[in-house]
Amino acid sequence: MHKRPYVRCPHLSQTMFICVLFSFAAIIMKVAVIGAGASGLTAIKCCLDEGLEPTCFERSDDIGGVWRFTEHVENGRASIYESLVSNTSKEMMCYSDFPMPDTFPNFLNHTKMMDYYRMYAETFNLLKYIQFKTLVCNIRKHPSFQSTGQWEVTIDKDGKQQTSTFNFVMICTGHYSDPYYPLDSFPSIQQFQGQYFHSRDFKRSDGYKGKKVLIIGTGSSACDIAVELSRTAAQVFLSTRKGTWVTSRTSDKGYPWDACLFTRFQEWFKNKLPSSIVLWWTEKKINMWFQHANYGLQPTKSSQFRELVYNDELLSRITCGSVLVKSAVTEITATSVEFDDETTEKDIDVVIFATGYIYNFPYFDEPIIKADNSINLYRNIFPASLKKPTLGFIGLIRPLGPFMSVAEVQARWVTRVFKGLCNFPPQEAIMKDIAKKKENFIKRFGKPQQSNSLTMEYIEYLDELTSDIGAKPNILSFLLSDPALGWMLYFGPCTPAQYRLTGPGKWRHARNHIMTTWDRIVKPTRTRVVKKVEKSIAITFLLSAVCALTLLLAALMYQC
Ligand SMILES: Cc1cc2nc3c(=O)[nH]c(=O)nc-3n(C[C@H](O)[C@H](O)[C@H](O)COP(=O)(O)OP(=O)(O)OC[C@H]3O[C@@H](n4cnc5c(N)ncnc54)[C@H](O)[C@@H]3O)c2cc1C
Ligand SMILES: *[C@@H]1O[C@H](CO)[C@@H](O)[C@H](O)[C@H]1NC(C)=O
Ligand SMILES: *[C@@H]1O[C@H](CO)[C@@H](O)[C@H](O)[C@H]1NC(C)=O
Repeated sequence: MHKRPYVRCPHLSQTMFICVLFSFAAIIMKVAVIGAGASGLTAIKCCLDEGLEPTCFERSDDIGGVWRFTEHVENGRASIYESLVSNTSKEMMCYSDFPMPDTFPNFLNHTKMMDYYRMYAETFNLLKYIQFKTLVCNIRKHPSFQSTGQWEVTIDKDGKQQTSTFNFVMICTGHYSDPYYPLDSFPSIQQFQGQYFHSRDFKRSDGYKGKKVLIIGTGSSACDIAVELSRTAAQVFLSTRKGTWVTSRTSDKGYPWDACLFTRFQEWFKNKLPSSIVLWWTEKKINMWFQHANYGLQPTKSSQFRELVYNDELLSRITCGSVLVKSAVTEITATSVEFDDETTEKDIDVVIFATGYIYNFPYFDEPIIKADNSINLYRNIFPASLKKPTLGFIGLIRPLGPFMSVAEVQARWVTRVFKGLCNFPPQEAIMKDIAKKKENFIKRFGKPQQSNSLTMEYIEYLDELTSDIGAKPNILSFLLSDPALGWMLYFGPCTPAQYRLTGPGKWRHARNHIMTTWDRIVKPTRTRVVKKVEKSIAITFLLSAVCALTLLLAALMYQC
């Protein structure tokens, strides 16, 4: 007992010493954040939260990346159409400690998304760390990399180049800016007399009145553009090679699909059942809205659930005949298009290639990452080839759920790893982990392809990263200590705020925020408050009579 103070004191001073060392080290720990889109913004904030010193380089003149709509396509930045609306809902996709205003609609257009990013940047004072109109043109290992893990980053600003050294790099440059444009597959397109372009160049439906338009591809953009053009064009053809699952943005009873689907309870259920049953059930559920086979959309492989399209209008546009689904294109000639079911459509005026994007990292000197189907990243973040975890990719993912909340958790994890506060396994364990994940991927989604090799499960991935940093909620302990919250955590939507209840980065409003999730979901649509509906007197009378009769019978039986 007497010894205790003596044991404690050295321990305390040791902790203090480490703390001082860290705060000293933090002053000189410089992080380069490349890109100021959804990923870059949260990366800057997470650096600040951890006491690192971020410098963000953004090639365009504003924040927002994908979500900043401009009339003209910019080099190296994603380009969207004017009618784009998010396919994930606000409660599920917001940053975990920064709720969207409760008056925002559940699915946001780009104006609202930008409003949110601006509020986030302003509230956490992020803008002063961003250097706009600054292109990162080269990232290479510092000569001392073997011992320090440092990087040299070369920027181009107003045509002047400048190189500086950073302790860490966070790559947040997105992966929707380099179009996949397979013109080689259609050599005869040179003779095509109409207009053809990539969906990246589509802005709105002006100028298509009375035209016959063919859209190649059935991803989110293809379906959106088809719906939009179908209101002005004479006819829209939607060509698909493999089919696609189309579903609504809202699920049962009109709640946002992601708030209904991503619950811990369903996750548990899904993991317990054999995958064949899960696939069968998912297919049944999706086909309940409309039989995909009857609409020519049924995927050839039913396991294609890694790429659902959330579109409420396509079905009605097909039913009205303004959109016609076609099979794969085999040949484009001067004025007509041939398909692989040996049909031909004549007098086509416009062909739009909604064929997606490729990954491109033009700023690396050496092949740090292979831009193909077999991207080797530990936890989808750190290149396996580097011995030191000093360069991480944020947002090089395609989650089956909302993107922003995932990018944020990645940034939280990475900054903890940078600071050495999080166990980082040796090379061998990393390679094993990557191999295991690949195996799991193939089991769930089939062989990876360019378009979907970055697909991942939502809750599973967030849990994995947050359990490393001690921010994963312990459901059982919450169920015991705070049953109402525990219930919501397990059966309610797995919102990002769940990862702000405990551990580093704890947010004191997290509990209240989680408990009021459903209120905020219905708030924007409940613009007319419905008073208690009057029940018919006849039914009330009938019910009372049945109750009385049952009671009487029970009493009689008891007497006997
Ligand atoms: C059409 C479309 C719709 C989407 N809808 C949704 C949705 O509804 N819900 C959802 O969760 N996800 C959606 N996504 C996924 C989307 O990827 C994320 O929403 C997110 O906005 C991506 O953010 P990011 O910061 O990773 O990349 P980006 O937003 O692409 O930002 C990258 C930034 O890096 C900059 N940059 C690039 N290269 C350099 C360089 N060399 N030097 C300096 N700066 C550079 C770019 O200018 C850009 O500002 C959608 C994507 C697309 C394309
Ligand atoms: C987005 O929605 C808001 C209202 O919620 C509206 O004011 C704005 O004009 C819309 N933007 C676009 C591009 O439709
Ligand atoms: C939402 O749309 C984007 C753009 O097409 C896509 O990359 C993303 O995977 C979609 N999100 C979901 C959850 O399907």
